[in-house]
Amino acid sequence: MTDKNTVDKTPEAIHVMFNMISRKYDFMNNIMSFGTHYYVKYRSIKSLNIKPHDNIIDLCCGTGDLARIIKYFHPDACVTGIDFSEEMLKIAKTKNPKRKIRYLQGDVTNLPYEDNSFDIVTMGFGLRNIANAEKAVEEAYRILKPQGSFLHLDFGNQNFLSKIYETTTPILAKMFTENYFSYDYLIKSKQTFPSPDDLIKDFENKGFIFKKRNDYLFGVISAETMTK
Ligand SMILES: C[S@@+](CC[C@H](N)C(=O)[O-])C[C@H]1O[C@@H](n2cnc3c(N)ncnc32)[C@H](O)[C@@H]1O
Repeated sequence: MTDKNTVDKTPEAIHVMFNMISRKYDFMNNIMSFGTHYYVKYRSIKSLNIKPHDNIIDLCCGTGDLARIIKYFHPDACVTGIDFSEEMLKIAKTKNPKRKIRYLQGDVTNLPYEDNSFDIVTMGFGLRNIANAEKAVEEAYRILKPQGSFLHLDFGNQNFLSKIYETTTPILAKMFTENYFSYDYLIKSKQTFPSPDDLIKDFENKGFIFKKRNDYLFGVISAETMTK
């Protein structure tokens, strides 16, 4: 993929970093985005054509926002979340007291599923953190059923709002966390990540077929939906 890869994305470094920031992850997301990340996650899930008994997996599920939104609106769907950070998963599990969502610790570059297993595969703000992003996309493609949907959600094009975000994030991180260097990483990983147009080409190169792109918050966040 076309990521310029100028930040340390070794799986070990990323794993340790997310374990370290896990306790404040949700809080920081809320203040950095002024709560708008929930709106974007909700809208992007609503844009999918999910059927009642679909088998759905959220890759890099973190603390489980996307998985919970899916389960809330589609209670009969079988929803799984996978992430390699045990600390992020611990928080996801505390928000899942009735165990309606399955959470699994694992690496999305090597998924423990058969080919063509899922009707819907989602990934929010994950690919940007993966050194071997190509392998993660290949895995998403492999486990998706033909005609299924792959939703990829992350920061989109740079604009005035993303500049404000990049300026305020380090300040907020210094005010509210001990791990503010992790938020320097976040900004760098965002700046070096491919644009939505380039991502769509990368996904197509792995076999996906483009379905639609939705931009939110004036394009600060972009969702690409692909099929197989
Ligand atoms: C920025 S968080 C996104 C969490 C969640 N999807 C959200 O939207 O809030 C990125 C997540 O990707 C996970 N992650 C990064 N690389 C991974 C990999 N190779 N396999 C599994 N999880 C990974 C991290 O542990 C972290 O929880």
